[in-house]
Amino acid sequence: MRYAHITGWGAYVPPRVVTNDELSHVVDTTDEWITERTGIKTRHIAGADDHTSTMAIKAGREALKVANLDPAKLELVICATSTPDYLMPNTASLIQDGLGASHAGAFDLNAACSGFVYALTVGTAMLRSGLYRNALVIGAEAMSRVMDWTDRTTCVLFGDGAGAVVLEARDEPGGVMSCRLGSDGSGAEFLKVPLGTRIPIHPLNMVNGNGPTMKMAGNEVFRFATKTMNQVTRQVAADAGIAVDDIDLIIPHQANQRILATAAKQLDYPLERIYSNLERLGNTSAASVPLAMIDALNEGRLHAGDHLMMIGFGGGLTWGACLVQWTYSPADRRWSPYKRARQALRLALAGPRSWAGRIERRLDFWELRRRRADRRRDRGNPT
Ligand code: ACO
Repeated sequence: MRYAHITGWGAYVPPRVVTNDELSHVVDTTDEWITERTGIKTRHIAGADDHTSTMAIKAGREALKVANLDPAKLELVICATSTPDYLMPNTASLIQDGLGASHAGAFDLNAACSGFVYALTVGTAMLRSGLYRNALVIGAEAMSRVMDWTDRTTCVLFGDGAGAVVLEARDEPGGVMSCRLGSDGSGAEFLKVPLGTRIPIHPLNMVNGNGPTMKMAGNEVFRFATKTMNQVTRQVAADAGIAVDDIDLIIPHQANQRILATAAKQLDYPLERIYSNLERLGNTSAASVPLAMIDALNEGRLHAGDHLMMIGFGGGLTWGACLVQWTYSPADRRWSPYKRARQALRLALAGPRSWAGRIERRLDFWELRRRRADRRRDRGNPT
């Protein structure tokens, strides 16, 4: 039996911090309303040079450093995002290139705020099946790019960032133990960014509030979120053969502090053991679970052997949870100066490797054209 262990982790949030007071100059809101109704005080917002892929690359580099895994040995990159850089190419391929992961397959996965839990489940299944030995699983979002900055019911909630984990297959029991995923597309209307092939690209679609910005029925999502957290936590704990009280720490999607408080009551589980960094980061959609997990780890809230429940819920509607038996403390992942320098070198080679690939492709193309021209000339047909 193979197990999927989390052997590395990395986080990135853009440096620009936006406070509730600042937002009160943008929309009709107050620090008091946002704090009381959501628990959010600040969020990090992407600058002009921050994109989903670039934030993910920064988080991915950190994760590879912690795992001390050569990017050239990485086999799979899965990027959970609902704010990809482009509709095509996929963001994961940009990340794979940026990391110098020259032997990895790469794909995006969109399950909105549940995306990371979905991606972790897929990555785990790939490793447990024996098809892959390792995977980089990332949740990354540039939510600020799909916000309607005149809509106070959504723009105060979201932030940007990326969190990544390295999964490695091991024989020792532990790591990601059980997962469940769910979906109810009948609630698709409750959370929407109307951009895609159903929406003809026409200037009229971009005006009068019809642009590709987030629309959310907050109350509906609130009800769905509390119900889901309760149900999926009980199901996944039962699947893993443990009681809810045996979960040492719950890392839920960070949407609203009141959702977490309601879920704690419904689960009869202490709110202090439901981790929250909402106050500082707001809702970063697919990035929120890995960012919260890494904060919890850095704050000493997560130890080797602990049972950790990660829960996602959001657009789709989708939901999911993974129970993880945590493997390493940060102290176990400190490498010698020699190993750190070697890893830094491997990561630094990503840029030149990418350029070398582009130049090689250009040379191949020139060579092809030259051979075609030669063949035409030999046939006596110079055109
Ligand atoms: N500042 C001031 N007032 C506001 C603001 C604001 N930022 N936003 C809404 N209000 C007003 C409303 O207009 C309304 O006023 P009215 O009574 O005069 O009409 C009043 O506050 C109450 O509005 P509600 O929508 O009932 O507020 P509620 O307490 O439900 O909070 C919120 C809204 C924060 C959106 C909440 O419903 C929520 O957190 N929902 C869940 C969101 C979520 O979980 N999303 C996760 C998935 S996200 C994803 O998948 C990408």
